[in-house]
Amino acid sequence: MAEGGAAAETLQIERLFPLAIGRALLPPDPLDTAVQLQVIDGLRGEAASNPDPGCAWTGDLNGVWKLHRHPAFAALIERIGHQALAYLEAVGFERHAVALHLQRCWPVVSEEGQVIGRHHHPNAHLSAVYYLSGDGSGRCGCLRFWPREHPNELVSGLAVGHGGPIATGHPLNAPWVDVAPRAGLLLLFPARIEHAVLANEDPDDRRVSISLDFALTAPAAVDTPPEYLAPHPSQWQELG
Ligand SMILES: [Fe+2]
Repeated sequence: MAEGGAAAETLQIERLFPLAIGRALLPPDPLDTAVQLQVIDGLRGEAASNPDPGCAWTGDLNGVWKLHRHPAFAALIERIGHQALAYLEAVGFERHAVALHLQRCWPVVSEEGQVIGRHHHPNAHLSAVYYLSGDGSGRCGCLRFWPREHPNELVSGLAVGHGGPIATGHPLNAPWVDVAPRAGLLLLFPARIEHAVLANEDPDDRRVSISLDFALTAPAAVDTPPEYLAPHPSQWQELG
């Protein structure tokens, strides 16, 4: 072995600075899911889009963004909260140094043909999506993540060009990554990561999910918060 442990004349690829997407399967109780779907339908009312008919209905733009205060979601929110804290620990946050706040939770319903355009969540630090439907095939509309940059394309634009020269979907140069919805699947991701929902192409599978936005602050008991972490909201003062 050569110095540093690499085999002589064998190129080793180091994957530096990986993006961490949290994934957990929270097996849903069919009865709970049925109640939650009923609640979402009731809150959605007659609306079926945002309002562009091609755009999925999202509760955050329609006054339905406090599902975390609805009893039908209380147990689920608690399970998701545990996973969000586990995600923070997994990426290196010291549990005693941060407080995690759920600020917004809203349903998203995608009928056949509907999409959600590319966006991120500037209001939050950490975001999550939990699927109430989906069979894992992706037919009802994958969640697409885009990287903030393509560090391995060498020259800007090569990774997303038509006809190569980079092999389609190469793991070190993928232009994006798609995740297929599956009932019970929870995804956690940095709120600043750009994402979109692809078209629901399954007339028999309405795509229903709930989205969550979290904010980080210092814990209330911390006297000297870290420099770049907001103090706990109990220490803030509203003006005017
Ligand atoms: Fe989003």
